[in-house]
Amino acid sequence: MKPKVVVTRKLPTEIYDQLSKRCQVYMWEEEEKPIPRSELEAQIKDAAALFCMITETVDAELLDQAQNLKVIANMAVGYNNIDISTCEARGIRVTNTPGVLTDTTADLAFALLMATARRIPEGMDTIRRDEWNNWSPFFLTGQDISHATLGIIGMGRIGSALAKRAKGFEMEVVYNNRSRNYEAERISGAVFASFDELLEKSDYVCLLTPYTKETHHLIGKDELQKMKKTAILINVSRGGTVDEEALYAALKSNDIYAAGLDVFEGEPIASTHPLLTLSNVVATPHIGSASVNTRMEMARMTARHILQVLNGEDPDHLVV
Ligand code: DGY
Repeated sequence: MKPKVVVTRKLPTEIYDQLSKRCQVYMWEEEEKPIPRSELEAQIKDAAALFCMITETVDAELLDQAQNLKVIANMAVGYNNIDISTCEARGIRVTNTPGVLTDTTADLAFALLMATARRIPEGMDTIRRDEWNNWSPFFLTGQDISHATLGIIGMGRIGSALAKRAKGFEMEVVYNNRSRNYEAERISGAVFASFDELLEKSDYVCLLTPYTKETHHLIGKDELQKMKKTAILINVSRGGTVDEEALYAALKSNDIYAAGLDVFEGEPIASTHPLLTLSNVVATPHIGSASVNTRMEMARMTARHILQVLNGEDPDHLVV
């Protein structure tokens, strides 16, 4: 009998076909709506593999239902939705999708930086509301990007790719990371800085760090106060790295200039979220890696990881 794989979202036929040659595939039939927890709990009971998204919380309780599970393949580079230590203790392999989304996510980070600095969404709203009356010398003036200082928190693959983009804009790049990234320093001229030094010096502070206990609310009231009044915060990591209440207060009282956010503490956020009432916030709905090609590559890679584990091979990208 073919091993069962649970796929938690409707994916293109190509992915279904890739898996069904080797597996019995259960696929949740909705593209936009995540699989309900009760359905996931029921389906995972006899599954050998789980193909999941960041919207599924894979905790010890769920794993208790899954007595045959060999592999959890997350269609994301981040895996804070999965209880890694329980998986490790139970010998369940966990995979993610690094590399394939690096450039696409760095592009989005830079796009958010530019849109926020140059107030592009505000400009469009102004036209839509018929409020563009005349060219005026200080109308919708923003912040310069070229020659400014970009501070990158978390200098992994995406951080390095962002630094390369910044180099094209002749920006000075400083970064903070658990360890020095000599390759990024060599390629983009990025300079290592202490966390506080980075906050004090940067015109743009971009968060690209994984979300862990240690990075929970890494940016809070104190950190926001250390930033320049003209600084812009960009978050494309996970919402939990920023204390949203503190951010709201800092933006409202102009302690920092603006924020470009692709991720939030609770997703999806409601249209009534306080941050959305502020004109100095540019928000996108967690679309860092959302290009057609990249999402297809992530799905292919996730399916491949499952097949590799079920075939007794080492998957290309193993978390544990
Ligand atoms: C990731 O890969 O971790 C993204 O946040 C989801 O695209």
